[in-house]
Amino acid sequence: MTVPAVASGGPEGGRARHVAIIMDGNGRWAKKRHLPRAVGHQRGVEAVRKVVRGAEGLGLEVLTLYAFSTENWRRPEEEISDLMGLMKRFILSDLEEMAENNIRLKIIGDYKAFAPDVVELIDNALAHTASNTGTTIAVALNYGSMDEIARAASKAASEGPITPETIAAHLDTADLPPLDLLIRTSGEERLSNFLLWQAAYAELWFTDVLWPDFTAEHLKQAMDAFATRERRYGGR
Ligand code: IPE
Ligand code: IPE
Ligand code: MG
Repeated sequence: MTVPAVASGGPEGGRARHVAIIMDGNGRWAKKRHLPRAVGHQRGVEAVRKVVRGAEGLGLEVLTLYAFSTENWRRPEEEISDLMGLMKRFILSDLEEMAENNIRLKIIGDYKAFAPDVVELIDNALAHTASNTGTTIAVALNYGSMDEIARAASKAASEGPITPETIAAHLDTADLPPLDLLIRTSGEERLSNFLLWQAAYAELWFTDVLWPDFTAEHLKQAMDAFATRERRYGGR
């Protein structure tokens, strides 16, 4: 068996190339202010906008954002429909700016399970930014690691032996650099079925900041902390 691909950072630290964020705490942000959850999600979208704008300036190659998990279907229908509406409006309002800023959009997860109008908007956004060469924003939609690994393993099995390499080659993230840093907001310290495989040697960074309050400055703090971490990958 070969050793996992060595991500950036290396034993002497360095700049993160690929950062992922579990954007959590919209509901609690709203609750603290006696506002409806939907307002928390709206403010969450504004935080996404700001962080996406900041990502390029921080020299990030890839920013992966957990927006809707395979388990989030367990939420009330009204909340799911609020989230879908926000997603549609975000694409309509922000696609052009992202395209002009050379951002490439990517989706991980099985977004084809969404309503046809959402799928069409997403497909259009992907096509519109496909040849861009700046920061890749990978949005995790209807994403769950266990689903992703199962899909990858069955594709690998249909082609030959299942090994860590053949599974990795079929993950939704196969074309992305290795995950360097995984951030979770809102004080929760769990992965919630996000990038379980990719996080094998990622550095983890937790903050109590609720997602709507998260800014590019917090992202920079996390990336600065990453640069001081010593990564050993099991060696010495
Ligand atoms: C994260 O905020 C957004 C999604 C999961 C879509 P939450 O809605 O999970 O907020 P909390 O965790 O209830 O505060
Ligand atoms: C993880 O947050 C999913 C997203 C941020 C999209 P959740 O709020 O759904 O996770 P749990 O339920 O607290 O683990
Ligand atoms: Mg949550």
